[in-house]
Amino acid sequence: MAFITAKILLLFSVLSLLQFNLCIGQNVKGGYWFPESGFAASDIDSNLFTHLFCAFANLDPQTYQLTISSTNNASFAQFTKTVQLKNPSVKTLLSIGGGSANKTVFASMAAQSTSRKAFIDSSIKLARYYGFLGLDLDWEYPQAASDMVNLGSLLKEWRTAVAAEATTSGKVALNLTAAVYLAPTLNDLKYPVQSINSNLDWINVMAYDFYDPSWYKFTNSHAALYDPSGQVSGSYGVGAWSQAGVNAKKLVLGLPFYGYAWRLVNANNHGLLAPANGPASADNGAMGYRQIKNFIAQNKAAIVYNSTIVTNYCYAGTTWIGYDDSQSINDKVLYAKQKGLLGYFAWHVGVDNNWALSQQAKQSWGA
Ligand SMILES: *[C@@H]1O[C@H](CO)[C@@H](O)[C@H](O)[C@H]1NC(C)=O
Ligand SMILES: *[C@@H]1O[C@H](CO)[C@@H](O)[C@H](O)[C@H]1NC(C)=O
Ligand SMILES: *[C@@H]1O[C@H](CO)[C@@H](O)[C@H](O)[C@H]1NC(C)=O
Ligand SMILES: *[C@@H]1O[C@H](CO)[C@@H](O)[C@H](O)[C@H]1NC(C)=O
Repeated sequence: MAFITAKILLLFSVLSLLQFNLCIGQNVKGGYWFPESGFAASDIDSNLFTHLFCAFANLDPQTYQLTISSTNNASFAQFTKTVQLKNPSVKTLLSIGGGSANKTVFASMAAQSTSRKAFIDSSIKLARYYGFLGLDLDWEYPQAASDMVNLGSLLKEWRTAVAAEATTSGKVALNLTAAVYLAPTLNDLKYPVQSINSNLDWINVMAYDFYDPSWYKFTNSHAALYDPSGQVSGSYGVGAWSQAGVNAKKLVLGLPFYGYAWRLVNANNHGLLAPANGPASADNGAMGYRQIKNFIAQNKAAIVYNSTIVTNYCYAGTTWIGYDDSQSINDKVLYAKQKGLLGYFAWHVGVDNNWALSQQAKQSWGA
């Protein structure tokens, strides 16, 4: 009797150990790196991440093959080796496109099966040649209903090709992901949700850039988690994607490691939704977290945390900055975990401040 009990107990502990291992293998603590940030890949503390995205490869406008600029070639070729020095199990993905890539070229590539094939074959070849463990599509953004349909075909053919390549090469299949808009409907166009859910390993939901000082004349968080009065929030986006049919386990929540600086109309009116008249710094007011922390220290800025919408902001004189500090990152990561999402990703690792936000995110998620 006691023997059987011991055996059953042993079985249970082996099972729970297995389950535990599966669980810790199954989340994404991600971050994007891009060389134009001026931050060296060798300086990334890769222990704080499970996945690192190397951004961006681009499409050749004639052949539709994937290319890496000659400026970035050497650092991309070394990226996986470089970041695996500190953490041999960190996974790397080659990210394609980005906000400044030419969307017309993506649309034409996706429109024909021959150009889709040229893209797909070259992407797999390049990923293998450079030692990446996955590919990440950042098409920002499809602009017509036909683009969305073609995107659906592209993802299906890409998945088929990646699976076939794994069989032929005997290697583990490349992961396929995409960075997508906050919600599955973008300017009345619907993402191909079914194809996304069945062909991608996960999507990175870009839950930021809701407002910026160049066009929005009030102070605000550009990445609030909650919006009590509307549909402009990370939780709205996550809910909309999962309602549309993407499994929560395929959703990865975006965390911005940057904020926006507004110029206040009146230095004494410095709350949320205070009147503002444009950016308070270069680059449309966009500021990396490290830069914001320096601003706070130099100007003895006041810091506020608003847990209703989940944002930090700070102000000094007529400068007002909405951004994510440790408290917002903590609340967002706890939200992602509680909703059963696959994980989170940061845009971008080069602007963290001594790894404070990356560490906070990792710690808040836990194992
Ligand atoms: C890019 O880097 C790879 C790997 O180091 C090398 O084989 C290739 O020749 C380089 N291409 C260019 C255009 O520099
Ligand atoms: C984008 O690509 C299209 C097609 O190749 C080209 O006609 C257009 O000039 C490009 N736009 C920019 C801004 O480079
Ligand atoms: C990434 O790809 C591997 C190999 O195909 C797969 O086992 C794993 O589940 C994928 N990751 C996710 C999070 O889907
Ligand atoms: C937090 O923000 C919300 C939404 O703007 C606002 O209604 C609330 O008063 C703020 N809370 C605090 C403590 O400032």
